[in-house]
Amino acid sequence: MQPIRKCVFPVAGMGTRFLPATKASPKEMLPIVDKPLIQYAVEEAVAAGCTELVFITGRNKRCIEDHFDKAYELETELAYRNQNKLLDFVQDILPPNVTCLYIRQPSALGLGHAVLCSRAAIGKENFAVVLADDLIDAQPGALSQMMEVYYRTGCNVLGVENIDPQETGAYGIVEITREDTDDYIQNIIEKPHPDDAPSHLGVVGRYILSARVFDFLTNLPRGAEGEIQLTDAIARLLTEQKMVAYAFSGTRYDCGDKLGYLEATVAYGLKHPLVGEDFRKLLQQMVC
Ligand code: UTP
Repeated sequence: MQPIRKCVFPVAGMGTRFLPATKASPKEMLPIVDKPLIQYAVEEAVAAGCTELVFITGRNKRCIEDHFDKAYELETELAYRNQNKLLDFVQDILPPNVTCLYIRQPSALGLGHAVLCSRAAIGKENFAVVLADDLIDAQPGALSQMMEVYYRTGCNVLGVENIDPQETGAYGIVEITREDTDDYIQNIIEKPHPDDAPSHLGVVGRYILSARVFDFLTNLPRGAEGEIQLTDAIARLLTEQKMVAYAFSGTRYDCGDKLGYLEATVAYGLKHPLVGEDFRKLLQQMVC
């Protein structure tokens, strides 16, 4: 069984739902309390064993690179002021054995195209994809849970969740059959109308895929919303390889959407070790 060492983070979307906040910086840099979304995603991937992180960036690539790079001036200043705890936060963003690679997606042609941009970096290895705007609060992390399924079955694995039946038009929807303890995908459809959806199991932003998916992404016609859809390539991959739908345990926040983002901010604020208690009191005062 090939180990999964590489994880792709597509961060080149337009983020139109968060304009103007996303005019000059990607939505994956929006903070949840004191950490940007992309850092939660990276921590989840590193905890799952990934050591090579591939970021597919768009026009605002600098701030993601800067976030994971060394910040000499800031570190010198914090050391000078003896702010050692803050210095640790800044220096411990990535473990030393982890490397980062940044690849530019020339224009936002869709998630499938963003993943295709990682082809040279991934080569022939099986790999993970994490969408940072799907923030998942889970212990162990959602990707670690999926790795267990991958190492046990040797199959592609898609993270899925039971979604509101009226919202099928916002997800890739899977049809499954159960074999022993796992749910195998028979069919996947991108953004179906609720009347055409084969189930209410929606794919959320976690994937473990075989590199064969790149062959299907190449020359894929534009699909739903005029974009090159990862789901369409996965549907083709499904004709050759087995795929498990894994309903991870944990809570997902759709941080690509304002309401989901606010919900995550409140949930993470309430459990924050420094401000959680005071935040709870503040919220109580505000809503009473
Ligand atoms: P979304 O579907 O949320 O699109 O992308 P978006 O452009 O980021 O946001 P809105 O809808 O305009 O508000 C899902 C994920 O795929 C990445 C995004 O950065 C996000 O992580 N993505 C999307 C790309 O990297 N490139 C693309 O061309 C499209």
